[in-house]
Amino acid sequence: MTTPASMLAMNRTSPALLLMIGVSMQTAEAGMIDKEGMAPWEICGLCHGLDGNSHMPRFPKLAAQKATYIEAQFNAFRQGARTNDGGQMQAITEEVKPEDIAAIAQHFTQQAAPEPVERPMHENQQDADLLQLGKALYTSGRAGLPACTTCHNAERPDTPWLDAQHEDYLNKQLDDFREGSRHSGSQNVMQDIADSLTRQEQKAVTHYLSRSALRAQENLQD
Ligand code: HEC
Ligand code: HEC
Repeated sequence: MTTPASMLAMNRTSPALLLMIGVSMQTAEAGMIDKEGMAPWEICGLCHGLDGNSHMPRFPKLAAQKATYIEAQFNAFRQGARTNDGGQMQAITEEVKPEDIAAIAQHFTQQAAPEPVERPMHENQQDADLLQLGKALYTSGRAGLPACTTCHNAERPDTPWLDAQHEDYLNKQLDDFREGSRHSGSQNVMQDIADSLTRQEQKAVTHYLSRSALRAQENLQD
């Protein structure tokens, strides 16, 4: 029975318990969304944007992302291999028929590439230095760190495009790799890379990427 006293007790419930209640409510919602008449990607649009250009940085942009990568990450969430999203994606994967995943990935990969953050007409020196360092790391690397483009390029369907992605999202992923809360597919390659980046280098490369449109210059086939 919900009496004011029990409500009060509830308010004093430990954050961990409240979290568990939240999680089980989320699970209860799975399978309860009426998807009659909806295209299979519309549910994704709630968070990622129908055209894959999400506005909130916690939701990665999927527009013009490699189809193979979208499918692989989706399956990693479904199988519980990738868990760094607080359970949101795993709950959603239960709403999608496995046979629809290829069409969903095709829908997003065919969208126009996302727009990068606009750079100011007159960059201050600090911004210019950051962009220059970011570009150097991305395209050339440095002693002990391979260029990001060694793997993040049109020839590798298992790597995502990073350009014009939300800066905060990129930073979160690098933090998650470093802390081991996102397990990368290939021998934890990204964990080593994130580990080797200094704070300033990470800031520079994510700043540069969120302000650049690079994939348009590459062959888009994957
Ligand atoms: C309720 C919000 C929500 C919905 C709906 C949603 N997602 Fe996500 N999605 C997320 C979050 C949160 C992340 C991961 C963020 C992180 O790692 O910090 C994510 C990540 C992803 C990624 C990884 C992208 C990358 O760059 O690594 C893919 C792929 C993805 N979602 C596909 C889908 C598809 C396909 C659908 C529809 C079937 C969908 N999502 C629906 C919230 C959502
Ligand atoms: C040796 C190959 C390799 C190199 C070099 C590399 N990456 Fe990656 N990166 C990967 C792979 C593979 C993935 C996908 C991991 C997975 O399957 O979860 C990835 C994923 C990422 C992601 C996650 C993006 C998303 O959409 O969720 C970020 C961010 C990232 N890399 C940044 C970088 C940066 C910055 C550099 C350069 C400093 C770099 N990577 C260099 C192989 C590489």
